[in-house]
Amino acid sequence: MPDTSRPATAQYVIPPREGDDAPVRVVGLCKSFGRQKVLKGVTLSFPRGKTTVVLGPSGCGKSVMLKHLVGLIRPDKGQIIYEGERIDILSERRLGPIRRQFGFLFQQGALFDSFDVYGNIAFPLRELEGEAPYDEEARVRRVLRLVGLESAIAKMPSELSGGQQKRIALARAVVLEPKVLLYDEPTTGLDPIRSDVINELIIKLKQELGVTSIVVTHDLASAFKVADHMVMFHEGNVVLEGEPEMFRKSTDPIVSRFLRGEASEEELRAIREVTSANREAARSTGGAP
Ligand SMILES: Nc1ncnc2c1ncn2[C@@H]1O[C@H](COP(=O)(O)OP(=O)(O)O)[C@@H](O)[C@H]1O
Ligand SMILES: [Mg+2]
Repeated sequence: MPDTSRPATAQYVIPPREGDDAPVRVVGLCKSFGRQKVLKGVTLSFPRGKTTVVLGPSGCGKSVMLKHLVGLIRPDKGQIIYEGERIDILSERRLGPIRRQFGFLFQQGALFDSFDVYGNIAFPLRELEGEAPYDEEARVRRVLRLVGLESAIAKMPSELSGGQQKRIALARAVVLEPKVLLYDEPTTGLDPIRSDVINELIIKLKQELGVTSIVVTHDLASAFKVADHMVMFHEGNVVLEGEPEMFRKSTDPIVSRFLRGEASEEELRAIREVTSANREAARSTGGAP
């Protein structure tokens, strides 16, 4: 359920840095759930027509940030700016037309099981334009061709593989011709070959539709394949933002450890302590080490 409890207040929009033409900006975003501070003042821009990859360990607030961009979560503090307008303070009614400019590929369970592929993709068209828009079938077929699955038009979701379901969900996300496309962990749970099909589609949709894309992931192969711009989150803050090359060259221990897939000393020590305590316990009860 979207949170509508926050009233519209200050209309002041923090201006972008000079030369920043990003359609979507996040400024000073803070969000807590109960006593857990998830985002602690995140500021970043998503460059126009490019793909920005947001990296970071599980649970660091990537999905929470993404949901703020479409008003599914409202900030405690900070601003979400779309084309120069603050959208974090808009009412649900005024947010509607803005939300339609965003396509969202959710992390899980995207398709309606009881509708076939055609019905799934036509759904947002009918929601927006009433019963069966005159060019409905043409529009459904066009986006199915984009994801290379026109032949699946009459199939049920249960007849498709996980990778194909993702592609159908992606076709549905672009059927209203969004300006911004959000992907939450698009390759998680897919094998490397199916993941690569999704990577190719992210690149293709950017090129053919000219969309600004935002990809949240912890899949590094995917990240470096699709990214024009990268951001890394750590403990609720942005630790690095820039071109992928900056990440490859970074000597920041947090960034380089994440890219090498290495645990920190602190994490390793905690595991070793548990292991040696177990060995100790096994020895004292006469069990195997
Ligand atoms: N609606 C919510 N209510 C309470 N806690 C939440 C909610 N959404 C996310 N969280 C918590 O916020 C943290 C960040 O979550 P999330 O953004 O989903 O992480 P990730 O980076 O893996 O996408 C997690 O600890 C999660 O449990
Ligand atoms: Mg997530």
